[in-house]
Amino acid sequence: MPRKSYVTTPIYYVNAEPHIGHAYTTIVADVFNRFHILFGSKTFFLTGTDEHGDKIAAAAQKVDQTPKEYVDQISQLFRDLWPRLNISNNYFVRTTDTQHKETVKMILSRVKENGDIYFSDYEGLYCVGCERFYTERELVDGKCPDHLTEPEVISEANYFFRMSKYQKWLIDHIHNHPDFIRPERYKNEVLSFLREPLEDLCISRPKSRLNWGITLPFDENFVTYVWFDALINYVSALGYPDGELFKEFWPCVQHITAKDILKPHGIYWPCMLKSAGIEPYQHLNVHGYWNVSQGKMSKSIGNVVRPLELEGVYGLDAFRYFLLRDMVFGLDSEFSEDALVARINADLANDLGNLVSRSLTMVHKYFKGELPEPYFSEKEDEKLKTQALDIVCRYEELK
Ligand code: MSP
Repeated sequence: MPRKSYVTTPIYYVNAEPHIGHAYTTIVADVFNRFHILFGSKTFFLTGTDEHGDKIAAAAQKVDQTPKEYVDQISQLFRDLWPRLNISNNYFVRTTDTQHKETVKMILSRVKENGDIYFSDYEGLYCVGCERFYTERELVDGKCPDHLTEPEVISEANYFFRMSKYQKWLIDHIHNHPDFIRPERYKNEVLSFLREPLEDLCISRPKSRLNWGITLPFDENFVTYVWFDALINYVSALGYPDGELFKEFWPCVQHITAKDILKPHGIYWPCMLKSAGIEPYQHLNVHGYWNVSQGKMSKSIGNVVRPLELEGVYGLDAFRYFLLRDMVFGLDSEFSEDALVARINADLANDLGNLVSRSLTMVHKYFKGELPEPYFSEKEDEKLKTQALDIVCRYEELK
Protein backbone atom coordinates (compact mmCIF):
# COMPACT_ATOMS: atom_id res chain seq x y z
CA MET A 1 0.00 0.00 0.00
CA PRO A 2 1.41 3.42 -0.88
CA ARG A 3 2.10 5.84 1.93
CA LYS A 4 -0.31 8.74 2.26
CA SER A 5 0.24 12.43 2.78
CA TYR A 6 -2.30 15.24 3.24
CA VAL A 7 -0.97 18.78 3.54
CA THR A 8 -2.93 22.02 4.00
CA THR A 9 -2.24 25.75 3.92
CA PRO A 10 -4.42 28.23 5.81
CA ILE A 11 -7.35 29.36 3.71
CA TYR A 12 -6.55 32.98 2.99
CA TYR A 13 -8.80 35.94 3.70
CA VAL A 14 -10.09 37.62 0.59
CA ASN A 15 -9.86 41.13 1.99
CA ALA A 16 -6.39 41.63 0.52
CA GLU A 17 -4.52 40.56 -2.59
CA PRO A 18 -2.00 37.71 -2.33
CA HIS A 19 1.50 38.68 -1.17
CA ILE A 20 4.81 37.04 -0.47
CA GLY A 21 3.65 35.72 2.95
CA HIS A 22 0.82 33.74 1.35
CA ALA A 23 3.20 32.62 -1.39
CA TYR A 24 5.74 31.35 1.16
CA THR A 25 3.31 29.08 3.06
CA THR A 26 1.86 27.75 -0.16
CA ILE A 27 5.28 27.08 -1.72
CA VAL A 28 6.42 25.28 1.46
CA ALA A 29 3.28 23.11 1.28
CA ASP A 30 3.93 22.52 -2.42
CA VAL A 31 7.52 21.41 -1.81
CA PHE A 32 6.31 19.16 1.02
CA ASN A 33 3.75 17.63 -1.33
CA ARG A 34 6.21 17.11 -4.18
CA PHE A 35 8.72 15.55 -1.79
CA HIS A 36 6.13 12.96 -0.73
CA ILE A 37 5.23 12.28 -4.37
CA LEU A 38 8.93 11.68 -5.12
CA PHE A 39 8.97 9.02 -2.43
CA GLY A 40 6.00 7.25 -3.97
CA SER A 41 3.30 8.48 -1.57
CA LYS A 42 -0.31 9.06 -2.55
CA THR A 43 -0.92 12.70 -1.69
CA PHE A 44 -3.61 15.34 -1.29
CA PHE A 45 -2.78 19.03 -1.09
CA LEU A 46 -5.40 21.60 -0.11
CA THR A 47 -5.52 25.38 -0.20
CA GLY A 48 -8.39 27.86 -0.57
CA THR A 49 -10.05 31.04 0.62
CA ASP A 50 -11.82 32.15 3.81
CA GLU A 51 -14.73 34.33 2.72
CA HIS A 52 -17.09 35.12 5.60
CA GLY A 53 -16.97 37.60 8.48
CA ASP A 54 -16.88 41.27 9.42
CA LYS A 55 -13.64 42.05 7.65
CA ILE A 56 -14.81 40.72 4.29
CA ALA A 57 -18.21 42.40 4.57
CA ALA A 58 -16.47 45.71 5.35
CA ALA A 59 -14.02 45.33 2.45
CA ALA A 60 -16.90 44.66 0.02
CA GLN A 61 -18.82 47.69 1.27
CA LYS A 62 -15.78 49.88 0.75
CA VAL A 63 -15.70 49.11 -2.99
CA ASP A 64 -19.49 49.21 -3.35
CA GLN A 65 -19.93 45.54 -4.11
CA THR A 66 -22.08 42.83 -2.55
CA PRO A 67 -20.04 40.46 -0.39
CA LYS A 68 -20.61 37.65 -2.91
CA GLU A 69 -19.41 39.73 -5.89
CA TYR A 70 -16.40 40.80 -3.91
CA VAL A 71 -15.36 37.33 -2.67
CA ASP A 72 -15.79 35.79 -6.12
CA GLN A 73 -13.40 38.34 -7.54
CA ILE A 74 -10.64 38.15 -4.92
CA SER A 75 -10.86 34.38 -4.46
CA GLN A 76 -10.19 34.15 -8.20
CA LEU A 77 -6.97 36.18 -7.77
CA PHE A 78 -5.65 33.49 -5.41
CA ARG A 79 -6.88 30.69 -7.64
CA ASP A 80 -5.15 32.26 -10.67
CA LEU A 81 -1.92 32.93 -8.81
CA TRP A 82 -1.15 29.38 -7.68
CA PRO A 83 -0.60 27.77 -11.13
CA ARG A 84 1.73 30.64 -11.99
CA LEU A 85 3.84 29.75 -8.96
CA ASN A 86 3.75 26.07 -9.96
CA ILE A 87 1.60 25.06 -7.00
CA SER A 88 0.35 21.48 -7.27
CA ASN A 89 -2.78 21.67 -5.10
CA ASN A 90 -5.43 19.01 -5.70
CA TYR A 91 -8.36 21.11 -4.58
CA PHE A 92 -9.23 24.73 -3.86
CA VAL A 93 -11.82 25.09 -1.10
CA ARG A 94 -14.01 28.16 -0.55
CA THR A 95 -16.02 28.71 2.62
CA THR A 96 -18.91 29.88 0.43
CA ASP A 97 -19.07 26.42 -1.25
CA THR A 98 -22.35 24.61 -0.53
CA GLN A 99 -20.52 21.47 0.59
CA HIS A 100 -18.50 23.46 3.11
CA LYS A 101 -21.54 25.27 4.49
CA GLU A 102 -23.42 21.99 4.95
CA THR A 103 -20.44 20.43 6.77
CA VAL A 104 -20.19 23.40 9.13
CA LYS A 105 -23.86 23.02 10.00
CA MET A 106 -23.49 19.28 10.52
CA ILE A 107 -20.52 19.74 12.87
CA LEU A 108 -22.30 22.49 14.80
CA SER A 109 -25.27 20.16 15.29
CA ARG A 110 -23.01 17.36 16.50
CA VAL A 111 -21.21 19.59 18.94
CA LYS A 112 -24.55 20.89 20.23
CA GLU A 113 -25.94 17.35 20.62
CA ASN A 114 -22.86 16.62 22.71
CA GLY A 115 -23.93 19.37 25.11
CA ASP A 116 -20.96 21.54 24.15
CA ILE A 117 -22.88 24.62 22.97
CA TYR A 118 -24.84 26.94 25.26
CA PHE A 119 -26.45 30.39 24.99
CA SER A 120 -25.40 33.23 27.26
CA ASP A 121 -25.17 36.99 27.67
CA TYR A 122 -21.74 38.33 27.14
CA GLU A 123 -19.92 41.61 27.40
CA GLY A 124 -16.43 41.63 26.00
CA LEU A 125 -13.65 43.56 24.30
CA TYR A 126 -13.91 42.94 20.58
CA CYS A 127 -11.22 43.62 17.95
CA VAL A 128 -12.77 43.99 14.49
CA GLY A 129 -9.40 43.35 12.81
CA CYS A 130 -9.00 39.96 14.53
CA GLU A 131 -12.74 39.25 14.56
CA ARG A 132 -12.55 38.03 18.13
CA PHE A 133 -13.05 38.96 21.75
CA TYR A 134 -9.98 39.63 23.87
CA THR A 135 -9.51 39.20 27.61
CA GLU A 136 -7.90 42.16 29.49
CA ARG A 137 -4.88 39.93 30.08
CA GLU A 138 -4.26 39.46 26.36
CA LEU A 139 -4.20 43.19 25.55
CA VAL A 140 -0.99 45.22 25.48
CA ASP A 141 -1.50 48.67 27.03
CA GLY A 142 -5.22 48.17 26.52
CA LYS A 143 -4.73 47.56 22.79
CA CYS A 144 -4.96 44.56 20.47
CA PRO A 145 -1.38 43.22 20.20
CA ASP A 146 -1.78 42.63 16.45
CA HIS A 147 -3.63 45.72 15.28
CA LEU A 148 -2.51 48.15 18.00
CA THR A 149 -6.07 49.48 18.18
CA GLU A 150 -8.35 49.70 21.21
CA PRO A 151 -11.01 47.00 21.09
CA GLU A 152 -14.69 47.97 21.26
CA VAL A 153 -16.83 46.97 24.24
CA ILE A 154 -19.59 44.80 22.82
CA SER A 155 -22.42 43.41 24.87
CA GLU A 156 -24.74 40.82 23.35
CA ALA A 157 -26.25 37.36 23.80
CA ASN A 158 -24.40 34.67 21.89
CA TYR A 159 -23.75 30.95 21.58
CA PHE A 160 -20.62 29.55 23.21
CA PHE A 161 -18.54 26.45 22.59
CA ARG A 162 -17.57 24.72 25.87
CA MET A 163 -13.86 24.76 25.01
CA SER A 164 -12.85 24.81 28.69
CA LYS A 165 -14.08 21.21 28.95
CA TYR A 166 -11.24 20.09 26.66
CA GLN A 167 -8.36 21.94 28.29
CA LYS A 168 -7.04 18.98 30.29
CA TRP A 169 -7.48 16.61 27.37
CA LEU A 170 -5.53 18.97 25.09
CA ILE A 171 -2.65 19.42 27.53
CA ASP A 172 -2.38 15.63 27.90
CA HIS A 173 -2.57 15.13 24.14
CA ILE A 174 0.28 17.58 23.55
CA HIS A 175 2.40 15.90 26.23
CA ASN A 176 1.69 12.46 24.81
CA HIS A 177 2.44 13.56 21.22
CA PRO A 178 5.49 15.80 21.61
CA ASP A 179 5.59 16.78 17.93
CA PHE A 180 1.84 17.48 17.62
CA ILE A 181 2.79 21.17 17.31
CA ARG A 182 6.23 21.95 15.94
CA PRO A 183 8.81 23.45 16.07
CA GLU A 184 9.11 23.18 19.87
CA ARG A 185 8.88 26.95 20.53
CA TYR A 186 5.28 27.00 19.28
CA LYS A 187 4.34 23.90 21.25
CA ASN A 188 5.69 25.69 24.33
CA GLU A 189 3.72 28.81 23.45
CA VAL A 190 0.49 26.80 23.30
CA LEU A 191 1.30 24.99 26.57
CA SER A 192 2.07 28.28 28.25
CA PHE A 193 -1.29 29.62 27.12
CA LEU A 194 -2.95 26.50 28.50
CA ARG A 195 -1.45 27.13 31.93
CA GLU A 196 -4.23 29.71 32.50
CA PRO A 197 -7.86 28.56 32.58
CA LEU A 198 -9.19 28.23 29.03
CA GLU A 199 -12.29 30.32 28.35
CA ASP A 200 -15.24 29.09 26.33
CA LEU A 201 -15.34 30.32 22.73
CA CYS A 202 -18.04 32.65 21.45
CA ILE A 203 -19.09 31.00 18.18
CA SER A 204 -21.96 33.14 16.90
CA ARG A 205 -22.68 36.66 15.72
CA PRO A 206 -26.22 38.08 15.75
CA LYS A 207 -27.51 38.75 12.23
CA SER A 208 -28.56 42.21 13.42
CA ARG A 209 -24.82 43.02 13.48
CA LEU A 210 -23.41 40.73 10.79
CA ASN A 211 -25.23 38.94 8.02
CA TRP A 212 -22.38 37.57 5.96
CA GLY A 213 -21.85 34.08 7.36
CA ILE A 214 -23.25 30.59 7.77
CA THR A 215 -26.59 30.55 9.60
CA LEU A 216 -26.54 28.43 12.79
CA PRO A 217 -28.53 25.23 12.21
CA PHE A 218 -30.32 25.71 15.56
CA ASP A 219 -31.01 29.48 15.49
CA GLU A 220 -31.57 31.42 12.29
CA ASN A 221 -31.00 34.77 13.98
CA PHE A 222 -27.28 34.06 14.21
CA VAL A 223 -24.39 33.34 11.87
CA THR A 224 -21.33 31.22 12.72
CA TYR A 225 -18.18 32.90 14.03
CA VAL A 226 -15.71 33.03 11.14
CA TRP A 227 -12.99 30.91 12.81
CA PHE A 228 -15.39 28.11 13.72
CA ASP A 229 -16.52 28.16 10.08
CA ALA A 230 -13.03 28.43 8.51
CA LEU A 231 -11.21 25.68 10.42
CA ILE A 232 -13.78 23.15 9.25
CA ASN A 233 -12.51 23.58 5.65
CA TYR A 234 -9.81 21.00 6.39
CA VAL A 235 -12.45 18.28 6.70
CA SER A 236 -15.24 19.67 4.51
CA ALA A 237 -12.93 19.64 1.48
CA LEU A 238 -12.42 15.89 1.98
CA GLY A 239 -16.16 15.21 2.08
CA TYR A 240 -16.43 14.60 5.85
CA PRO A 241 -17.96 12.41 7.26
CA ASP A 242 -18.48 9.73 4.59
CA GLY A 243 -16.20 10.85 1.75
CA GLU A 244 -13.53 8.42 0.56
CA LEU A 245 -10.98 11.24 0.60
CA PHE A 246 -11.74 11.89 4.26
CA LYS A 247 -11.25 8.23 5.21
CA GLU A 248 -8.08 8.01 3.17
CA PHE A 249 -6.33 11.25 4.01
CA TRP A 250 -7.54 12.64 7.33
CA PRO A 251 -5.40 10.22 9.43
CA CYS A 252 -2.20 11.70 7.99
CA VAL A 253 -3.08 15.42 7.86
CA GLN A 254 -0.35 17.99 8.37
CA HIS A 255 -1.32 21.64 8.69
CA ILE A 256 1.10 24.42 7.77
CA THR A 257 0.49 27.96 9.04
CA ALA A 258 2.44 30.98 10.25
CA LYS A 259 2.66 31.91 13.92
CA ASP A 260 -0.11 34.55 13.65
CA ILE A 261 -2.82 31.89 13.71
CA LEU A 262 -1.27 29.54 16.24
CA LYS A 263 -4.08 29.90 18.77
CA PRO A 264 -7.01 28.93 16.51
CA HIS A 265 -5.01 26.00 15.08
CA GLY A 266 -3.26 24.91 18.27
CA ILE A 267 -6.23 25.33 20.63
CA TYR A 268 -9.67 25.90 19.06
CA TRP A 269 -9.29 23.32 16.29
CA PRO A 270 -8.18 20.29 18.36
CA CYS A 271 -10.97 21.01 20.89
CA MET A 272 -13.53 21.33 18.09
CA LEU A 273 -12.37 18.04 16.57
CA LYS A 274 -12.52 16.28 19.92
CA SER A 275 -16.03 17.54 20.59
CA ALA A 276 -17.22 16.51 17.11
CA GLY A 277 -15.74 13.03 17.58
CA ILE A 278 -13.05 13.45 14.90
CA GLU A 279 -9.44 12.31 15.47
CA PRO A 280 -7.02 15.20 16.09
CA TYR A 281 -4.76 16.23 13.22
CA GLN A 282 -1.34 14.59 13.01
CA HIS A 283 0.91 17.67 13.05
CA LEU A 284 0.69 21.44 13.06
CA ASN A 285 3.81 22.94 11.45
CA VAL A 286 4.28 26.60 12.30
CA HIS A 287 6.59 29.03 10.55
CA GLY A 288 7.68 32.59 11.27
CA TYR A 289 6.90 35.87 9.59
CA TRP A 290 8.47 37.58 6.59
CA ASN A 291 9.05 41.18 7.59
CA VAL A 292 9.88 44.01 5.25
CA SER A 293 12.08 46.91 6.46
CA GLN A 294 11.91 45.41 9.97
CA GLY A 295 8.15 45.66 10.06
CA LYS A 296 4.92 44.10 8.93
CA MET A 297 3.86 44.32 5.30
CA SER A 298 0.90 46.61 4.92
CA LYS A 299 -1.00 48.29 2.13
CA SER A 300 -0.99 51.62 3.97
CA ILE A 301 2.80 51.62 4.39
CA GLY A 302 3.09 50.58 0.74
CA ASN A 303 5.65 47.80 1.35
CA VAL A 304 3.61 44.84 0.15
CA VAL A 305 5.80 42.41 -1.79
CA ARG A 306 3.93 40.87 -4.73
CA PRO A 307 5.13 37.41 -5.74
CA LEU A 308 4.40 37.75 -9.46
CA GLU A 309 6.50 40.90 -9.79
CA LEU A 310 9.54 39.03 -8.42
CA GLU A 311 8.84 35.87 -10.36
CA GLY A 312 8.65 37.99 -13.53
CA VAL A 313 12.12 39.45 -12.97
CA TYR A 314 14.08 36.57 -11.43
CA GLY A 315 12.30 33.45 -12.68
CA LEU A 316 10.05 31.09 -10.79
CA ASP A 317 12.51 28.45 -9.62
CA ALA A 318 14.97 31.05 -8.35
CA PHE A 319 12.18 32.83 -6.47
CA ARG A 320 10.92 29.59 -4.90
CA TYR A 321 14.47 28.55 -4.05
CA PHE A 322 15.14 31.87 -2.31
CA LEU A 323 12.02 31.67 -0.12
CA LEU A 324 12.80 28.17 1.06
CA ARG A 325 16.53 28.70 1.49
CA ASP A 326 16.46 32.06 3.23
CA MET A 327 13.91 31.41 5.96
CA VAL A 328 14.67 28.97 8.75
CA PHE A 329 11.31 27.23 9.22
CA GLY A 330 9.88 28.54 12.48
CA LEU A 331 11.88 31.78 12.68
CA ASP A 332 11.12 35.24 11.27
CA SER A 333 13.04 36.50 8.25
CA GLU A 334 13.66 39.87 6.70
CA PHE A 335 12.74 40.13 3.04
CA SER A 336 14.76 42.34 0.70
CA GLU A 337 15.33 42.22 -3.00
CA ASP A 338 19.08 42.65 -2.37
CA ALA A 339 19.10 39.46 -0.28
CA LEU A 340 17.28 37.67 -3.07
CA VAL A 341 19.81 38.80 -5.68
CA ALA A 342 22.75 37.89 -3.42
CA ARG A 343 21.34 34.42 -2.80
CA ILE A 344 20.66 33.77 -6.49
CA ASN A 345 24.16 34.91 -7.43
CA ALA A 346 25.96 32.96 -4.71
CA ASP A 347 24.04 29.68 -4.67
CA LEU A 348 22.53 29.34 -8.11
CA ALA A 349 24.77 31.26 -10.52
CA ASN A 350 28.13 30.65 -8.81
CA ASP A 351 27.87 27.29 -7.03
CA LEU A 352 25.31 25.38 -9.06
CA GLY A 353 26.03 27.24 -12.32
CA ASN A 354 29.76 26.55 -12.10
CA LEU A 355 29.21 22.91 -11.30
CA VAL A 356 26.97 22.46 -14.32
CA SER A 357 29.26 24.44 -16.61
CA ARG A 358 32.38 22.51 -15.56
CA SER A 359 30.59 19.21 -15.89
CA LEU A 360 29.43 20.11 -19.40
CA THR A 361 32.93 21.19 -20.42
CA MET A 362 34.32 17.84 -19.24
CA VAL A 363 31.59 15.89 -21.00
CA HIS A 364 32.62 17.63 -24.22
CA LYS A 365 36.33 17.32 -23.60
CA TYR A 366 36.48 13.68 -22.48
CA PHE A 367 33.35 12.08 -23.95
CA LYS A 368 32.77 14.01 -27.21
CA GLY A 369 29.66 15.61 -25.76
CA GLU A 370 27.89 12.34 -25.04
CA LEU A 371 27.48 10.88 -21.55
CA PRO A 372 28.54 7.23 -21.29
CA GLU A 373 26.40 4.74 -19.33
CA PRO A 374 27.22 5.18 -15.63
CA TYR A 375 29.44 2.44 -14.27
CA PHE A 376 29.98 1.80 -10.57
CA SER A 377 32.34 -0.70 -9.05
CA GLU A 378 30.77 -3.02 -6.47
CA LYS A 379 32.25 -0.91 -3.68
CA GLU A 380 30.86 2.32 -5.15
CA ASP A 381 27.53 0.66 -5.71
CA GLU A 382 27.33 -0.29 -2.01
CA LYS A 383 28.20 3.28 -1.05
CA LEU A 384 25.40 4.67 -3.21
CA LYS A 385 22.89 2.25 -1.74
CA THR A 386 23.91 3.27 1.78
CA GLN A 387 23.46 6.93 0.86
CA ALA A 388 20.01 6.26 -0.61
CA LEU A 389 19.03 4.33 2.50
CA ASP A 390 20.21 7.20 4.63
CA ILE A 391 17.92 9.60 2.73
CA VAL A 392 14.95 7.26 3.19
CA CYS A 393 15.68 6.98 6.93
CA ARG A 394 15.76 10.75 7.27
CA TYR A 395 12.49 10.94 5.43
CA GLU A 396 10.99 8.45 7.90
CA GLU A 397 12.20 10.63 10.78
CA LEU A 398 10.59 13.68 9.19
CA LYS A 399 7.14 12.06 9.03
N1 MSP B 1 -8.29 33.16 7.08
C1 MSP B 1 -7.36 32.96 8.12
C2 MSP B 1 -6.87 31.53 8.14
C3 MSP B 1 -7.94 30.50 8.32
S1 MSP B 1 -7.31 28.87 8.23
C4 MSP B 1 -8.56 27.90 8.75
C5 MSP B 1 -6.16 33.88 7.90
N2 MSP B 1 -5.98 34.33 6.65
S2 MSP B 1 -4.76 35.27 6.19
O1 MSP B 1 -5.05 35.65 4.83
O2 MSP B 1 -4.56 36.32 7.12
O3 MSP B 1 -3.53 34.35 6.13
C6 MSP B 1 -2.65 34.19 7.20
C7 MSP B 1 -1.56 33.27 6.74
O4 MSP B 1 -0.91 33.84 5.57
C8 MSP B 1 -0.41 33.09 7.72
O5 MSP B 1 -0.67 32.13 8.72
C9 MSP B 1 0.67 32.65 6.75
O6 MSP B 1 0.44 31.37 6.31
C10 MSP B 1 0.47 33.61 5.60
N3 MSP B 1 1.14 34.89 5.84
C11 MSP B 1 0.55 36.12 5.77
N4 MSP B 1 1.50 37.08 5.98
C12 MSP B 1 2.69 36.47 6.21
C13 MSP B 1 4.00 36.96 6.40
N5 MSP B 1 4.30 38.25 6.44
N6 MSP B 1 4.99 36.04 6.54
C14 MSP B 1 4.75 34.69 6.48
N7 MSP B 1 3.52 34.22 6.28
C15 MSP B 1 2.46 35.06 6.21
O7 MSP B 1 -5.45 34.11 8.85
